[in-house]
Amino acid sequence: MREMTSADLDAVLAIEQSVQRYPWTRGQFADSLDAGHWCHVDEEGGELRGYAIMMPAVDEVELLMIGVSAAHQRKGLGRAMLGGMLELARGRNMRRVLLEVRPSNTAAVALYRSAGFSEVGLRRSYYRDANGSEDALVMACELLDGTNGAGEANG
Ligand SMILES: CC(C)(COP(=O)(O)OP(=O)(O)OC[C@H]1O[C@@H](n2cnc3c(N)ncnc32)[C@H](O)[C@@H]1OP(=O)(O)O)[C@@H](O)C(=O)NCCC(=O)NCCS
Repeated sequence: MREMTSADLDAVLAIEQSVQRYPWTRGQFADSLDAGHWCHVDEEGGELRGYAIMMPAVDEVELLMIGVSAAHQRKGLGRAMLGGMLELARGRNMRRVLLEVRPSNTAAVALYRSAGFSEVGLRRSYYRDANGSEDALVMACELLDGTNGAGEANG
């Protein structure tokens, strides 16, 4: 994995539009880059295969986006990228990672569960879709296991 740059936007957008039911726009990716979100890509042999974006807020970080090109799905790349992003967050002393996901996105929900996320809430009618709206599952992964002593409140 390496950091995403604006030169990657064409390739990222091409994957996004082919794998997401409700794709982000170029402007949303560009805004994330400009805002200093943690934007990473996986590239091999000049081919961009996947991307992931996290937005930090104090000691928590939200996973905003993860995508793997259709040709490379179901080969462990999504899990590897998510693991890399969790390591990044751990290395930056984040306490936990949060995300929102459509319950109908069974691939993503299964990926998150297998990476240690659990469901912590539901936002009703959070997403708009062709039939009206869909709830969002809120999932969280705690990063501090109590052995590294970082970030505990005093008193
Ligand atoms: C979600 C996504 C990133 C997973 O990437 P991937 O590289 O295919 O995932 P992996 O091969 O690492 O799979 C990891 C686990 O996720 C789950 N999973 C992945 N794809 C799945 C599918 N189509 N159906 C059910 N479970 C799936 C499985 O538990 C899998 O483990 P297993 O292969 O040992 O059974 C990919 O499907 C994708 O890009 N989807 C479109 C974008 C999207 O919806 N992103 C999430 C919201 S932003």
